[in-house]
Amino acid sequence: MNLKRLIFLLLLQGLVVVLFYGRYVHHKPPDTPPSTGKVHVLVLSSWRSGSSFMGQVFSQHPSVFYLMEPAWHVWFTVKSPTVRLLRMAVRDVMRSIFQCDFSVMDSYLPEQHNVSSLFMWSHSRALCSPPACPLTPRNQTSSQPQCFQKCDARGLQKVEEACGTYSHVVLKEVRFFELESLYPLLKDPNMDLRIIHLVRDPRAVLRSREESASSFYKDSSIVLGQRKVAAAEVQYQVMQEICRSHVRINERAVLKPPPFLKGRYKLVRYEDVARSPLKEVNDIYEFVGLGMTPQLEDWIYTLTHGKGKGPAFQITSRNATNVSQAWRTMLPYSKVKRVQEVCEGAMSLLGYKTVKSEKEQRLGIDLLVPQGPYQFSWVSTKKEHKSKR
Ligand SMILES: *[C@@H]1O[C@H](CO)[C@@H](O)[C@H](O)[C@H]1NC(C)=O
Ligand SMILES: *[C@@H]1O[C@H](CO)[C@@H](O)[C@H](O)[C@H]1NC(C)=O
Ligand SMILES: *[C@@H]1O[C@H](CO)[C@@H](O)[C@H](O)[C@H]1NC(C)=O
Ligand SMILES: *[C@@H]1O[C@H](CO)[C@@H](O)[C@H](O)[C@H]1NC(C)=O
Repeated sequence: MNLKRLIFLLLLQGLVVVLFYGRYVHHKPPDTPPSTGKVHVLVLSSWRSGSSFMGQVFSQHPSVFYLMEPAWHVWFTVKSPTVRLLRMAVRDVMRSIFQCDFSVMDSYLPEQHNVSSLFMWSHSRALCSPPACPLTPRNQTSSQPQCFQKCDARGLQKVEEACGTYSHVVLKEVRFFELESLYPLLKDPNMDLRIIHLVRDPRAVLRSREESASSFYKDSSIVLGQRKVAAAEVQYQVMQEICRSHVRINERAVLKPPPFLKGRYKLVRYEDVARSPLKEVNDIYEFVGLGMTPQLEDWIYTLTHGKGKGPAFQITSRNATNVSQAWRTMLPYSKVKRVQEVCEGAMSLLGYKTVKSEKEQRLGIDLLVPQGPYQFSWVSTKKEHKSKR
């Protein structure tokens, strides 16, 4: 046997060994669940920031199982809660639901619960379509009032079953204030989590919250850690907490992200979506691996170019550009000034210019700093310089 032949045979043997072992070594032990190949999306936002609209953009997509605010159940079940006390429970509820395991809801629902026990269940198109309900074909947009009438069912078996049939599970949360508690989900090899961080001009958020102030009573006291705050101050202190959380989340994800967070975070500004809804939604779909359909394109166009103003908490056709600018005429300058003070850092980081007078507020000048790829590092260096002085 010559040397060449020997080397060839040795290589061949090595290859056989590698292939043979590979089958066993790479084979997972039978007790770990196989990776489902699902994409998990968390729409992380705050109250009155366009998250219902963004939720619908996912909910109506034929490949998406969408659920709104599972954290609502946790916040409204636990006694004397604070944000910190609840966040791990919320995280674990989300993890289970992402994996289509609804048994976790048992702690937070009445004993004989039904589909209708889930918060805002009829806003989820997947719960109005087969296999959850025969009403709406999966490739059509659903009607919430009809679904509400026709699609309740006993227990949550149908919900679990439906969840398992979609490639994407999307949850929307406004009750989440940091990213760190999500790290185990981001590191979990059985999960593929993408985070859409949806923010809005704090002045517009304040105006919108004032429209329906009483509905935030309980949430506000949780955000403020049950501390006593004068009634006139509550809104500003809550806004401060919200703004701080936006800074915390964005800086964590953009400035020095841990490796498992890279490419999994996308900041979305409500105002950019209002100005060019189709472009922004296309970008968002692309980020999570969903395709646009002609039907969705029509639906998004109609929803964002309507004439109505629409009542709070309802998705109706409205003029999105118009709605996003309403604070400039509706809010007195004194309040604008105050919210600019408590949200100064967030506004500079996220690209919302402050106004220095009532005149400037009422004028039509554009207050949105265009989002460039280098915006964030630029803002942060500026801040570092400031703090060194
Ligand atoms: C669920 O549905 C059953 C039967 O329709 C009903 O008896 C029960 O009260 C419902 N549960 C809740 C929490 O509404
Ligand atoms: C929806 O799906 C059905 C059957 O799967 C098909 O016949 C119909 O053409 C689809 N409609 C649209 C608008 O894609
Ligand atoms: C929406 O509002 C903007 C600004 O207020 C205005 O320029 C536009 O014409 C409005 N569009 C519709 C369809 O009313
Ligand atoms: C919004 O649109 C309505 C008419 O469609 C108009 O009367 C109103 O002034 C607009 N508001 C803003 C803030 O542009």
